[in-house]
Amino acid sequence: MLGMTKSALKCLYFPLALLFSSSPMAESYDSYALAEGGRLYDNWALELDKEAPNSTHPGYNDYKGKKRGASTWRCKECHGWDYEGAMGLYGKGEHYTGTTGISAYRGASIDEIVTVLRNDNHGFDQIFTEEQLTKVAAFVGQGLLNMRAFINPRTKKVAGEASKGRLTYQEQCTLCHGSSGKARNLSKKRGQKLYLGDVANENPWKAMHKIRFGHPGKFYTNKYDVEGRPRMNMPAMLGVVPLEGQVDLLAYLMSLSAK
Ligand code: HEC
Ligand code: HEC
Repeated sequence: MLGMTKSALKCLYFPLALLFSSSPMAESYDSYALAEGGRLYDNWALELDKEAPNSTHPGYNDYKGKKRGASTWRCKECHGWDYEGAMGLYGKGEHYTGTTGISAYRGASIDEIVTVLRNDNHGFDQIFTEEQLTKVAAFVGQGLLNMRAFINPRTKKVAGEASKGRLTYQEQCTLCHGSSGKARNLSKKRGQKLYLGDVANENPWKAMHKIRFGHPGKFYTNKYDVEGRPRMNMPAMLGVVPLEGQVDLLAYLMSLSAK
C-alpha cells in the first residue's frame, strides 16, 4: 500500500472486469443506480427524505459501541467509510462497534447481499422498497472500492495527483463548494461554512465515498435561483470521471488549504 503507483491503481480495474466476465448470470448496474445505492449506504434517511427510528438499531453492538438512536441506522455507522468495519477505520475511536466490514461481499451476487440485508442484523426489508434493496446491494457488490489500494490507512497519503484533479473540481464542484472549497454549508444554518480541505484531510475515506456517490438528499442553493430556488443533488463522479480521476480529485481536495 505504501508508495502505491498509478499502474497499481490501474490494476484495480482488472479483477473487476474478470469478475463480470466470469459470472454470466450477474446483472450489472449502471453508475446511476450504484450511486443511489452508495448514498443509501451513507444516509438512507436523508436520501429518501424519511426519519430514521429514534431507537437504537437492533443490530448495533451497544455493548461495545457508544452511539445510540437514529445514527445507528446508517450502514456506514456499523461498517465504516472504508467498508472495513472494525478491521479498518472504525477499529477504534468513537465509532468502534467491533462489527465486521462489508468488503468480503465485493463481487457477491445481488441475491446474496439482499439476503443479508433482510436478516436479523439488518431488517432493511422493513425500510427499503425492493428497488432500493437492489440498489444498495448493487453498490455493495459492484460499487465498493478497496480503499487501501489508494489511501494509506496509517498516513492517509493518497495515490493521486492534485494538479490533475483541479479541472474536475472546477467543472463539477465550485458551483456549490466555491473555488477554494470554503463555501457556505448548504444544509446548516446561514453563515456556517464547510471546509472541504479539512473534511478530506480528516477523513479521506468519507470524502472519496462522497466523490463517487454524491452527498445524500437534495439541497437548495441560492446561487442559481431562477424561479423559487432549484433543488439540486451533489453530483456523483462515478461514471463521470474514471477511478483514477476520482483519486486525483481526492488528492486535490486534500491540497485545499484548511480553515
Ligand atoms: C446497526 C449496525 C448495522 C447496520 C446499520 C448495518 N449493518 Fe450490516 N452488518 C451488521 C452486523 C452485526 C453484521 C454481521 C457481521 C458481524 O457480526 O460483525 C453485518 C453484516 C453485513 C454484511 C455481511 C458482511 C460479512 O462479511 O459477513 C453486509 C454485506 C452488510 N452487513 C451490509 C450492510 C448494508 C448495505 C447496510 C445498510 C443498508 C448495513 N449492513 C447496515 C450490522 C449492521
Ligand atoms: C449541487 C451542489 C453540490 C455540488 C455541485 C457538489 N456538492 Fe459536495 N456537497 C453538497 C452538499 C449540500 C453537501 C452537504 C454539506 C452541505 O450542506 O454543504 C456536500 C458535501 C460534500 C462533502 C462532505 C462534507 C462533509 O462534511 O461530510 C464532500 C467531501 C463534498 N461535498 C465534495 C464535493 C466534490 C468533490 C464535488 C465535485 C465533484 C462536490 N462536492 C459537488 C453539494 C454539492
